[in-house]
Amino acid sequence: RLVVGESALERRVLRGLEQVETRLLKCAGEAEDPRLAEVAGHLIAAGGKRLRPLLTLLGAEFGDVRGEGVIEAAVVAELIHTASLHHDDVMDEALLRHGVSSVNARWGNTVAVRSGNWLLARAARLSASLAPEAIPLQAEASERLVRGQLRELVGPDGAERRLSHYFAVISDKSASLISLSLRLGAVQAGAPAGVGEALAAYGEHLGVAFQISDDLLDITSSSAELGKEQGKDLAVGVAGLPVLLVLDDAWPGDEELRSLLSGAQAMRGQQHERTLALLQRSGCMARARGIMDERLAAARASLGPLPPGPARKALESLCEFVATRTA
Ligand code: FPP
Ligand code: MG
Ligand code: MG
Repeated sequence: RLVVGESALERRVLRGLEQVETRLLKCAGEAEDPRLAEVAGHLIAAGGKRLRPLLTLLGAEFGDVRGEGVIEAAVVAELIHTASLHHDDVMDEALLRHGVSSVNARWGNTVAVRSGNWLLARAARLSASLAPEAIPLQAEASERLVRGQLRELVGPDGAERRLSHYFAVISDKSASLISLSLRLGAVQAGAPAGVGEALAAYGEHLGVAFQISDDLLDITSSSAELGKEQGKDLAVGVAGLPVLLVLDDAWPGDEELRSLLSGAQAMRGQQHERTLALLQRSGCMARARGIMDERLAAARASLGPLPPGPARKALESLCEFVATRTA
């Protein structure tokens, strides 16, 4: 749990998250076809960290927290995220998500794509009720999500270094929505523009760090801990940061690992197990962690223009959460 509920802010945020939960389930249940309602509600009911709604609620703390549409904005962020997971699991051929069968594993790719589209459309309907400034921000983040995912699929172009491609991809596919979530909260609560911009900058850095922590966990944590399959990136030939570091020309040593990684696109069985074991022991893990820590420091520094107080403290402790998360 990200929030414990000891302070006034935490109690307020917990109450907000409960409202978000009710609204999310209601949204899925509103699908006119009961089969669509079941599919659309599948991952929502399975859970998830609700990181994005939490960020929206924290963003709103810098304005009028009871501002109209704050809960709706948090719901929009989680609906977009859930839609993107429906699609991502198709692309990654994932079988597990949030500890349950992925939508594609249970109902097939076509249903997963269509239900993802429906969730996105549902988010668009809800965002029509938000502040006018929220609409272009939301549209831009959705565009970046798709662009990031496509660039990951296509890979770096000839002249582009793999590491710079990687950072461009994760900032689009992951940081964009994290950043949007914070900003939507600030916008809905009528916070000053400078606050929204500082929160957006913080979100971009936090989002990149969050995706790096995801790459690390893919290598170190079990499927049971993750609620999704361990080593999946490797299995489908998507290179996370530790792998890219090993493949970089400047990386010293790790010869066996390098030859395993530069061989087949995707990996199975013993080769997959051996590669995971070697990665776990390689210096690339500490190096990737160092890059993540730099991003977390940049996230903290972005909080500079914000007024001090419990909301800013909560954002600082989220950096700690990303640095130490195990699932
Ligand atoms: C997870 O990455 C994927 C994302 C964070 C973004 C997915 C975006 C799309 C599918 C574009 C479509 C967007 C919309 C709005 C419908 P990952 O595969 O590295 O993480 P994982 O380990 O959690 O699967
Ligand atoms: Mg995936
Ligand atoms: Mg993916």
